[in-house]
Amino acid sequence: MVTRVATVAFEGIEARSVDVQVQVTSGNVNFILVGLPDKAVAESRERVRAALIASGLALPAKRITVNLAPADLPKEGSHYDLPIALGVMAAIGAIPPDALAGYAVLGELALDGSLTAVAGVLPAAIAAYARGQGLICPAACGPEAAWAAADIDILAPRSLIQLANHFKGTQVLARPQPSVARQAGPLPDLGDIRGQESAKRVLEIAAAGGHNLLMNGPPGAGKSMLASRLPSILPPLSPRELLEVSMVHSVAGHLAEGALTDRRPFRAPHHSASMAALVGGGLQAKPGEVSLAHHGVLFLDELPEFQAQALDALRQPMETGDVLISRANHRAVYPARFQLVAAMNPCRCGKATEPGYACRRQPNERCMAQYQTRISGPMLDRIDIVIDVPAVTAADLLLPAAGEGSAEVAARVAVARQAQTARFEALNLPNVTTNAACPAPVLDQIARPDGAGLNLLRDAAEAMRLTARGYHRVLKVARTLADLDGEAKVGRIHLAEALSYRSRIDQVAQAA
Ligand SMILES: Nc1ncnc2c1ncn2[C@@H]1O[C@H](COP(=O)(O)OP(=O)(O)O)[C@@H](O)[C@H]1O
Ligand SMILES: [Mg+2]
Repeated sequence: MVTRVATVAFEGIEARSVDVQVQVTSGNVNFILVGLPDKAVAESRERVRAALIASGLALPAKRITVNLAPADLPKEGSHYDLPIALGVMAAIGAIPPDALAGYAVLGELALDGSLTAVAGVLPAAIAAYARGQGLICPAACGPEAAWAAADIDILAPRSLIQLANHFKGTQVLARPQPSVARQAGPLPDLGDIRGQESAKRVLEIAAAGGHNLLMNGPPGAGKSMLASRLPSILPPLSPRELLEVSMVHSVAGHLAEGALTDRRPFRAPHHSASMAALVGGGLQAKPGEVSLAHHGVLFLDELPEFQAQALDALRQPMETGDVLISRANHRAVYPARFQLVAAMNPCRCGKATEPGYACRRQPNERCMAQYQTRISGPMLDRIDIVIDVPAVTAADLLLPAAGEGSAEVAARVAVARQAQTARFEALNLPNVTTNAACPAPVLDQIARPDGAGLNLLRDAAEAMRLTARGYHRVLKVARTLADLDGEAKVGRIHLAEALSYRSRIDQVAQAA
């Protein structure tokens, strides 16, 4: 007889159904695992054997065959331990044969029979619920699974024995509750920054519309400091965004203790990051920084120091909001709708823009141009706002702390975001929540400037030789400026400001 246990295999954040089939027959004593398992799955045999023995169940002196079906879907990871062990237990009569019906199962076993947390429980639970199944997972992942639905049936035992007792009815497992991660203290506050009023204003605009931002300035001007204050003014994730973000983090194995958080992700990979680390991939086609930053911020400090190839790989996800990773045996799509915030020095020495500074190697302009060529034109074209962050003066540092902190700015950002969400919902585009993500064809409807604005835009587009993308990005920023002003229509003043943030791109691109 064949015992069947339902489990999943991950393709990106999709959990595909996998059937674990266990057959115990007479014949040579052996434990065979087939169905395209990778190394971690193949090792599962040893963990299952040890865990069963530790739980007081010796494997029968028979031939045990385990098949993971469908056989052509690659199986990766350690979460097959538990379905295999339960399949064997059902096959030898250690648990009732129908106990596992209606459950999807995943979990890793320790040698002592306890269960270890695994990645991907949230997407597995959501997929199981959609198929009308419950979920059996390790206790540590229970709170995560409980987010899938209010009425999903979850068994989250600590060990094999605890689960067997539950099925026998001697120890009933309680349903885990969804938990929210405890925040590690308050975020750094915008109020800490002295002076830099225009940079703070731009940070507010970028936050309000989800716009990509590049800050250019000498070392010590406070660029990194400004970027690290962005999370404190961004609105919290909506419930739907929270689930989307958490699915990616779950598959990546980043959800500590199964707790979710409504803080927007802020990812700041070092400039030595490889292409696979940034866009995803590697052996198991894991999500990269662009996907971990989904619905949040990807901060690239010292932008020109990143590998050119890695930076150019960001271009496609910046446009489409997702990333397709293809490997020999794998194909995974991960969401990657992130807001890019980047910082750079004007040149290698960092001081080219300082009055009176002369580069020892070559004229300042050449030094700057050489450094800026490291960022490609197409990359710059995807940035909505470029600003210069000048060095902060001693006079600024001596000023008393600013009256306005992150809370006040966040309130204005939240109002502007609400206006955007409502507008896109009315247009039947529920997936779009920010002006930055607005599809170009819709822009004509929502950001049509008034007469004076149109004239300005026409002249500027010609003078600045805006690309089509550049033109649309100017309109998006202008729309955000109007939203911050609470205006229904985009006016000339909004366009003028939006164009001023774009003009720096031309200068950088020309240098490049
Ligand atoms: N406007 C400012 N107000 C207060 N402190 C500042 C300001 N700008 C810079 N600093 C101080 O200088 C340090 C360096 O700033 P940082 O953001 O790392 O500069 P950058 O990234 O531009 O090189 C900060 O940690 C902070 O202590
Ligand atoms: Mg810095």
